[in-house]
Amino acid sequence: MLAKGFRRDCCVVAVGGGVVSDLAGFVAGTFGRGVPFVNYATTLLAAADASIGGKTAVDTDLATNLIGLIYQPKKVYVDIDTWKTLPKNHLVNGMAETIKHACLADFELFEYIEKNIDKILQCDPEACEYISERNCNVKYQVVMKDEKEKSLREILNLGHTVGRAIETVSDYKLLHGEALSIGMVAQVTLGCKLGFLTEEERDRVIALQKKVGLPVEIPDYIDREALVKKLYTDKKVRDGKLRFVFQKGIGEVMTFGEDVYARPVAEEEIREILMNM
Ligand SMILES: NC(=O)c1ccc[n+]([C@@H]2O[C@H](COP(=O)([O-])OP(=O)(O)OC[C@H]3O[C@@H](n4cnc5c(N)ncnc54)[C@H](O)[C@@H]3O)[C@@H](O)[C@H]2O)c1
Ligand SMILES: [Zn+2]
Repeated sequence: MLAKGFRRDCCVVAVGGGVVSDLAGFVAGTFGRGVPFVNYATTLLAAADASIGGKTAVDTDLATNLIGLIYQPKKVYVDIDTWKTLPKNHLVNGMAETIKHACLADFELFEYIEKNIDKILQCDPEACEYISERNCNVKYQVVMKDEKEKSLREILNLGHTVGRAIETVSDYKLLHGEALSIGMVAQVTLGCKLGFLTEEERDRVIALQKKVGLPVEIPDYIDREALVKKLYTDKKVRDGKLRFVFQKGIGEVMTFGEDVYARPVAEEEIREILMNM
């Protein structure tokens, strides 16, 4: 950008999915110590998640998402028309974060997806507009209250403890949303055991993910022991202890004290679940 003659009066426009918005946001946040940027999201995942909230980062050989900053876009555009050219697996992938948002804060959205999944996957404008707006609303409400992830923002991490670990252990054969879907199954299964949601609610979440076309079982090629070990690289780990966010029924999250949204989980508790998935 410097070589091209851009200076501090420029603006960065990210047109693409989460990979583009993460990188463009990072560049915008550091170029000239910060120039404005706009996200124009062309994937469902970016529309639902990556383009909103201001987390930007670049990956290196040593770590994913660790070199970055929180830098808010001036505007976010969601172009539903672009979803029509998305490969089907990427559309399905984006639905994982949408279901996560529904599970943690929006029961109506959950019911809507149950009833309208065919329309959504056919990129029906009305259905896609509806889920986009609800997605943005859930994420926006949380980020507005806790931009720097001191507490509440952790709830957006629902399903990600196992999800992120399995994404890495799969060597990124699984897309982020696919890995998240499996992480959500682990979360509802353990949550049900702990009494945070009923068996019926657990099965309803799993059934919806299946209906959407997301995986709900750990693939055979995943080394379960490596997966358990990988859980400890989660950012929520404190004092060497695993911590999970749990949904409460469908549409709310559990709290474990004032402003505490994650609960310590013993390795044996989660190991048993993962070995049987
Ligand atoms: N910053 C955040 O808060 C946040 C949140 C979630 C995910 N992410 C990041 O987002 C990335 C995943 O985002 P993604 O799923 O959008 O992936 P992506 O940006 O890689 O896009 C997926 C694929 O679709 C292609 N593509 C994009 N738009 C298209 C369109 N309209 N039609 C056809 N093809 C299109 C891309 O070229 C790419 O091959 C990951 O790197 C993840 O770490 C960031
Ligand atoms: Zn995610």
